[in-house]
Amino acid sequence: MILAIYGSSGMGKEVCDLAEEHEAAKWDNIVFVDDLTESSIVYGHATMAYKEFKLKYMPSEVRFIIAQGEPEIKKLLFERIRKDGFQCATIVHPDTEISSSSHIGEGVVIFKGCYVSSEATIGNNCILLSYTCIAHNVVIEDYCQLSAMVLTGGFDKIGTLSYIGAGAIIREGITVGNQCIVGQGAVVLSNVADKLVVAGNPARGFKTNDSGRVFHH
Ligand SMILES: CC(C)(COP(=O)(O)OP(=O)(O)OC[C@H]1O[C@@H](n2cnc3c(N)ncnc32)[C@H](O)[C@@H]1OP(=O)(O)O)[C@@H](O)C(=O)NCCC(=O)NCCS
Repeated sequence: MILAIYGSSGMGKEVCDLAEEHEAAKWDNIVFVDDLTESSIVYGHATMAYKEFKLKYMPSEVRFIIAQGEPEIKKLLFERIRKDGFQCATIVHPDTEISSSSHIGEGVVIFKGCYVSSEATIGNNCILLSYTCIAHNVVIEDYCQLSAMVLTGGFDKIGTLSYIGAGAIIREGITVGNQCIVGQGAVVLSNVADKLVVAGNPARGFKTNDSGRVFHH
């Protein structure tokens, strides 16, 4: 089976490390798919644009990981591969604790040191970076990124396409809406409306996520 990592930048390389170091037996080969690079080799692996990739490989011999930090781009790329019949892998670092009563969706990547507690749900194509803690009964909807060291509280809900910055702390029972951005280090004590960008302690909204982009560089 081939692991296709869609995106060859920092996150793609982190996913590559995870797969090579902990799932070497599972993958015959790792290939980067990247429409924006001219390089044919990245991080020691063959790299090609998606239109080239899909002519070369059958869906049955491939599993994808969409390695993108921007939730909206993740959705766009996932819908692109899905239309052509490709499926995603789910990769979980062995040094994590995942409750057997939790539900982990397709295309999810969970990095080192994370904890996913009882009856939590991690939607499709979410990424949990290192040492993030998902409390009991938390629901994370599709295409979210929770950066390193995020702490959620029991029964929190994070809406689809939301981005939670590193070290953010979300009080129990909070709903963060769809397409929100929570700044790094924010302490979220009240619900966050759809598309709001919040930061600080206590977190306050300071603009709306009209661009659909977290990073502006
Ligand atoms: C919230 C965030 C998306 C805002 O980015 P932005 O839209 O470019 O906003 P700016 O940097 O222009 O900041 C706007 C204002 O909010 C403040 N601000 C931004 N992020 C903040 C944060 N995390 N905490 C407190 N204040 C913050 C800035 O100081 C600035 O205040 P000012 O207008 O008084 O000068 C960004 O700061 C952030 O936290 N991104 C997540 C980063 C992360 O977690 N990376 C880890 C993975 S790589």
